This record gives sequence, C-alpha cells and structure tokens, in this order.
Amino acid sequence: MVDEVLARSFENIGDEYDRYRPGFPPQAAKIIIPSPVDSVLDLGAGTGKFTRLLQKHAQRVIAVEPSVPMMSVLQRTLPGVDARRGTAESIPSADSSVDAVTVAQAFHWFDRDSACAEIARVLVPGGTLGLVWNRPDPTCAWDLACHRIAHPAVSETDATADTAAEELPGFTLVRQEQVRWVEHITRDHYVRRWSTISSVIVAEQDRRDEMLAAVDDVLDAAPQTSGLPEFELPHLTDVFVYRRS
Ligand SMILES: C[S@@+](CC[C@H](N)C(=O)[O-])C[C@H]1O[C@@H](n2cnc3c(N)ncnc32)[C@H](O)[C@@H]1O
Repeated sequence: MVDEVLARSFENIGDEYDRYRPGFPPQAAKIIIPSPVDSVLDLGAGTGKFTRLLQKHAQRVIAVEPSVPMMSVLQRTLPGVDARRGTAESIPSADSSVDAVTVAQAFHWFDRDSACAEIARVLVPGGTLGLVWNRPDPTCAWDLACHRIAHPAVSETDATADTAAEELPGFTLVRQEQVRWVEHITRDHYVRRWSTISSVIVAEQDRRDEMLAAVDDVLDAAPQTSGLPEFELPHLTDVFVYRRS
C-alpha cells in the first residue's frame, strides 16, 4: 500500500533533490535498452536524473512527472526531452506509442496494478519496461546505519527494490542485473542528501533535526568517515527488465 503523504513529499522540492540525490550508472540504461530505439518514456522522471542517460539510447525521450517543482528542473536542464505532467496511473501518451518505459527509484510509489495496465497500454507489443533502484551497499556499515535512521522500519536490503515483484501483471521478467559503483562525496553533500529523503521531508522540524544530528554522529564514529571532509560512498543499482507479454 503506497503511503500518499510520502509519495507526495516530492511536490515541494526540486532543486535540492537534483543537487543532492545520487545519479545512476550509465550501464543501467544500457542494460534496459541495449540497442537504440525510436522512443522511450521515463515515468516518475523527477528532475531527470535517469532521463538524461536515456538520450543516448532513443531518438525521442518523453518524461512524465506529477510534481511541478521536480519537472521544472527537468525542463530547464534537459530541453530536448518532451516533458509531460502526469502520473503512472494515467499516462499522457497514446496507446502503443513507445518502445520502452523506464522507472527509476519511483515504481514503489505507484499503484502497481493500474500503473502496469497503463504502461502496457502505451508500450508497443513486445515493448520493454525497465525498473531501476539505487540502494546502499550492505557491506558499508556506516551508510546502512544512516539508512536505518531515516527508514527505521526498513530491512538491511532496503524495501524499495523488494517491491519489484518478479511477476508484474502483463509483463515477463527477462533480465535482472546489479551494477556496483562508487561515488566520491563530500560530508556536507552526504548530510544534505538526507534532507531530500521522503521520511525526513515529512518529519516535524524537531524530528528532522534529530535525524540529521544522528547522521552526523554516525559519520563522526565510523573510521572510514570520521574527521574526513570527503569520502567514497559505494552504491548498488538494481535493474529489472520486463517484456510486455
Ligand atoms: C524518488 S523520486 C525519483 C525521481 C527520478 N526518477 C530519479 O530517479 O531521480 C520519485 C518520483 O516519483 C514521482 N511520483 C510519485 N508518485 C507518482 C505517480 N503515482 N506517478 C508518477 N510519478 C510519481 C515523484 O513526484 C518523484 O518525482
């Protein structure tokens, strides 16, 4: 069941999200679209962090996003992309009009069954659906500890990728890969990133301050980060590729 308050937390941020959230490894887009296609639609595109990687793989890139502040960053930074306001449950595109649909870090916010029906509707027969999630590397204890501060109820592996059920109505899973990558990040950037996480955005100011102070405590205690102005942050990116049945 999608938490509407958390799902709508992105309605009021755009620039901060774009500045502080991690991007995605280019390999993730290549796994979904191994050879160039005519059109791809990025759903829940946000500020375009994944959308920008698609431009190399398709002649026409469409981005669909409900939040105006998120979409205005995308329109500013990716003027070649056809940006449309809409949702996964009501995609503003014609039937059988795109070769591939991608969803980065957003599928867990959708109403799964109606989104799958809409994605199947806009895809050409045999079209591709690619789902992508960044998640913490389970071997990085200090980053995991910070994730637990923001998501106390979430398991070690992060719940978001777990919601990519292997079976989606109307689709067949054809490929599943994990890309490992490392981001060089300053401490300031890392701490500010936590202010763009949905559970922190919707928290009361006191609780938010408490969570950010707890992140600072973790960084002060871990030998890999203590006293350092910048460090290496490992990421895993899960990629799931489906074919429209
Ligand atoms: C964590 S952000 C990911 C944004 C972008 N794909 C990225 O990876 O940076 C989740 C995005 O999903 C959007 N979203 C939430 N509910 C949605 C829905 N029902 N349909 C489409 N997008 C939705 C939010 O507005 C937000 O931009």
